[in-house]
Amino acid sequence: MLTSRVARPRRYLVCEPRYFAVHYAINPWMDKDAPVDTARAAQQWQTLIRTYLDHGHQVVSVPPVPGLPDMVFAANSALTLAGRPRKAFGSLFHAAQRRPEAGEYATWFKAAGYDVYQPESVCEGEGDLVPAGRYLLAGTGFRTTREAHAEVQEFFGVPTIGLRLVDPYFYHLDTALFVVDDAPGDGIGGSWGDGTGNRTGEATIAYYPEAFSSGSREVLRQLFPDALLATRDDALAFGLNSVSDGRHVFISPTATGLIAQLTDRGYLPVPVDLSEFHKAGGGIKCCTQEIR
Ligand code: ARG
Repeated sequence: MLTSRVARPRRYLVCEPRYFAVHYAINPWMDKDAPVDTARAAQQWQTLIRTYLDHGHQVVSVPPVPGLPDMVFAANSALTLAGRPRKAFGSLFHAAQRRPEAGEYATWFKAAGYDVYQPESVCEGEGDLVPAGRYLLAGTGFRTTREAHAEVQEFFGVPTIGLRLVDPYFYHLDTALFVVDDAPGDGIGGSWGDGTGNRTGEATIAYYPEAFSSGSREVLRQLFPDALLATRDDALAFGLNSVSDGRHVFISPTATGLIAQLTDRGYLPVPVDLSEFHKAGGGIKCCTQEIR
């Protein structure tokens, strides 16, 4: 039996790709000699924003800064959680080229009334920190450090589950896993009560198992036995770099296997093509920071 999926309106922080380009290579997707079509990138990004607005979501933006071509990837800027009002866990980027982005985003969060914590260890926001029901899933291996996992657990007081990434193409957790459905109950992702009194804190996720170490894979299998498992092709198509509102799943159109699985489970995939951003190693989720 297919339950009907319920969308919850979200607030997304984004950054216009005015200065987007590939000027350096800090992940295997980036090739300085493969030109980005900046006009096409701008159109693709505008389509993403329009799609969010058309589906009832709020979009707020940070002004882009010249010389920071990856600033469009707003997901790396911070983490906020439901039930922890006005607290933002900021970022400390791994790559020197991206370090100045942290201050730009921190300025935005402070102006919006958040207390911004500056991590002492490398941490790349929602790129590696993914609220999933009652847990905070935390990637490591390429960018965010184990030390930062401890810092974020201390800051928010939520159980933080470290997961080790092992494939350089999936260097951020949000390239290998996404939350399809927040917990129906008391999840830190944002849905507090579903009106049924069912407060289980379980979320539904999708992931590509081979992106993780064998121990981390086992942890995911135990915590999320009903997860959707993606193929390498779907993962390489940035299918796991998706954003879901609980009903609509904004997803790369070429992740066809995953799109079929989502449809089978009663979700409504909404294809949005961000192929110009794939050249920098980013997709839909990378361009989207959820503000809770
Ligand atoms: N070029 C950027 C980097 O390597 C892409 C960041 C993608 N963001 C993400 N949330 N996965 O840092």
